Amino acid sequence: MNKLSEFVKTADWKSEKHVPVIDCPEMVRAGEWFAINVTVGKEIPHPNTTEHHIAWIAVHFLPAGSKTTVEIGRFEFSAHGQSPTGPNQGSIHTDSTVTVHAKAAAGGTIFATAYCNIHGLWEADKTISA
Ligand SMILES: [Fe+2]
Repeated sequence: MNKLSEFVKTADWKSEKHVPVIDCPEMVRAGEWFAINVTVGKEIPHPNTTEHHIAWIAVHFLPAGSKTTVEIGRFEFSAHGQSPTGPNQGSIHTDSTVTVHAKAAAGGTIFATAYCNIHGLWEADKTISA
């Protein structure tokens, strides 16, 4: 029996355009707000066309010592140049970058998952301390 986790890909984001890049402080103050920025295509731009685009990014947090992740943000990108006149003829595109503001009681691991409509699921993680 297959598990979805077997098909979630990862790689070095500097050489693979699908890997989400998590930018945030490595050390935060417990209980104070901080920004988590997640970008797909930071080093190598990912296409953003009607036919090939990043459809969504989800951000989860695993508190240190916990066995359960918490979803802290989910973002869908809905404009990829589609138009009544045809693919890529539309006047607006949404880019695959998001920012979540969060505060945590303690450190843990941030997970970012991104879905390309052609190349599937990709993930990355970053550990923070508080
Ligand atoms: Fe792709």
